[in-house]
Amino acid sequence: MAVDTTFRTADHLSLLEDAERYMPGGALGAFRLPDEVQVVIREGRGSRVWDVEGREYVDYVLGSGPMLAGHAHPAVVEAIAQQAARGSQFYLLTEPAIRLAQTVCQAAPCAEQVRFVGSGSEATGYALRLARAFTGRDKILKFEGGYHGVGDYALYSTSAHGDPAYPRAHAESAGIPRVLDDHVLIAPFNDLETTGRLVAEHAGEVAAAIVEPVQRCIPPAPGFLQGVRDLTREHQVLLVLDEVVTGFRLAWGGAQEYYGVQCDLAAYGKAISGGLSLAAIAGRRDVLALCDPRTAKSPNHVVISGTLSGNPLSAAAGLATLAELERPGVYDRLHAVGNRLRQGLEEVGRRVGLPLRAPGEGPVFQPLISAHPVTDARSLGMLDAKATQRFGVELVREGIMTNPGGKMYLSIAHSEADVDRTLAASERALRTVANL
Ligand SMILES: Cc1ncc(COP(=O)(O)O)c(C=O)c1O
Repeated sequence: MAVDTTFRTADHLSLLEDAERYMPGGALGAFRLPDEVQVVIREGRGSRVWDVEGREYVDYVLGSGPMLAGHAHPAVVEAIAQQAARGSQFYLLTEPAIRLAQTVCQAAPCAEQVRFVGSGSEATGYALRLARAFTGRDKILKFEGGYHGVGDYALYSTSAHGDPAYPRAHAESAGIPRVLDDHVLIAPFNDLETTGRLVAEHAGEVAAAIVEPVQRCIPPAPGFLQGVRDLTREHQVLLVLDEVVTGFRLAWGGAQEYYGVQCDLAAYGKAISGGLSLAAIAGRRDVLALCDPRTAKSPNHVVISGTLSGNPLSAAAGLATLAELERPGVYDRLHAVGNRLRQGLEEVGRRVGLPLRAPGEGPVFQPLISAHPVTDARSLGMLDAKATQRFGVELVREGIMTNPGGKMYLSIAHSEADVDRTLAASERALRTVANL
């Protein structure tokens, strides 16, 4: 039955008013549900979340991706409870942190060592700092439309802004020092020729190329990632793969394994934290050696630190999550269920007569209404943004929790029945959009 979020109880509305009163935009961050479907969440279990009125939703926000094992997975809850009873923060080495580092090193092809940090933004920001120190160069190259968190270097051209000539960078936030405009080069995703030309033109200045292997929802064209690997190697530019989304999600060895690409450093977050605060820079021992605290007096020492880095509670939650993901068949099933949903959405689009696409991979993709195939930020920008957003809002009304206009994440708890329910809801939602 469709969820009607227009009738929120007085208590629910009062909570939302308090959110407005005490937090800018009534929001936790850059993301906020549109007013008409704004709700306060009370709890989650498996593939479902419930709002404070007890309305149930099949959840595809998934905490923005970390809850890959599903909400409140019993093994993760147990691991957190056991560690909490022993203490939740020491700033000293703990076994969960060491074992999590070991697990990442065993899983991630690039990982000889790991430095823990607090968030995905820190992981990408520090990976770029390491690359600048290692190469003695100041510039970084990123791809138009790629998102690497909120650091000053990262927050450039995260979407297309008209047709400026590459490599001109567009700052996405006020407050980013203008001097950085000249230190970030922008290349078109999936365009190896232009990327190669830019790297060659700026050889000797570029410390690192950073890439989301699946850029938002756009998979890499065959040969693209390998091509970027080859040309960065040719010009002694470090390749940083941002595996914050793809790590432990596309495969146990992340995008590195799934697409068969090697990198020098990788940023991890989301799934490795089990839903608590933890992220990591993984990669080459000789690069990570720059942040060895024993070299603090060296002129090339890179400072990477944080009070809660490698927090044992987060590490325990991460380890318990990864243990669930390591079970045989998990990734095949995750891809199969996700791909059935993606294909089902496109069929719904054909039945309703709107070009609904679901680019991405099984475990993470983005429904969008667009007449154009999506291969880079500029073609992504040609979508019908209003209709796409509306479709997402209607999905929430239908009891499908999603970030309207954003990505959908699957967990290992999502079932075929969830897919059936989501597809039925999608058809109703899309018909509403078509009739507007
Ligand atoms: C690809 C990618 N990199 C980095 C980040 C930043 O991670 P965090 O939000 O934990 O800072 C995100 C967050 O969504 C992301 O999707």
